[in-house]
Amino acid sequence: MKTNVKHYVPSDDATDLRLDESALNAAATSDLDEGAVTPGYGPYRDAVVKLLNDALATELVCTLRYKRHYFTADGVDSSKIADEFLVHATEETSHADKIARRIVQLGGDPDFSPDTLLARSHAQYDGSKDRKDMVRANLVAERIAVEAYRQMITLIGDRDPTTRRLLEEVLADEEEHADELKDWLHR
Ligand SMILES: [Fe+2]
Ligand SMILES: [Fe+2]
Repeated sequence: MKTNVKHYVPSDDATDLRLDESALNAAATSDLDEGAVTPGYGPYRDAVVKLLNDALATELVCTLRYKRHYFTADGVDSSKIADEFLVHATEETSHADKIARRIVQLGGDPDFSPDTLLARSHAQYDGSKDRKDMVRANLVAERIAVEAYRQMITLIGDRDPTTRRLLEEVLADEEEHADELKDWLHR
């Protein structure tokens, strides 16, 4: 934070639910270029942006992996599983877009650099040729994403409710993806 505006400190009295109006007005009128990020955000912005950038890299790698599998899946039930891969690819891209938008809202820089994408991603790329191997690789990647988002949500806690809510929505989608792939594993 560039500003030295005093932070809001809640009263020790648990029954005192009044806002601190002077702190509120001072915070709102300082550093207007910060947009949505007011002094009350706390000192975590860079750390949250880093978490989000690693999540962005993960979503982009997941999009690439699903696209690769969509175009190359063949064998029994190939068109159905390929369709599933395409749906997941589209949803991973949507996750990436939402995360990038939030990074910009926080005044950060969304990192789309292909040079470091895989190193920053929690999940791996996969170039399997066999349909079952593809399903297994995607299931592992989804379960890694589920674990990573759970950890992020715990780390962010009450520090940034908007980011936490976004991550909770993405987590629910990843759980659904993992559940669907589990069914495909046994077909
Ligand atoms: Fe995703
Ligand atoms: Fe997913």
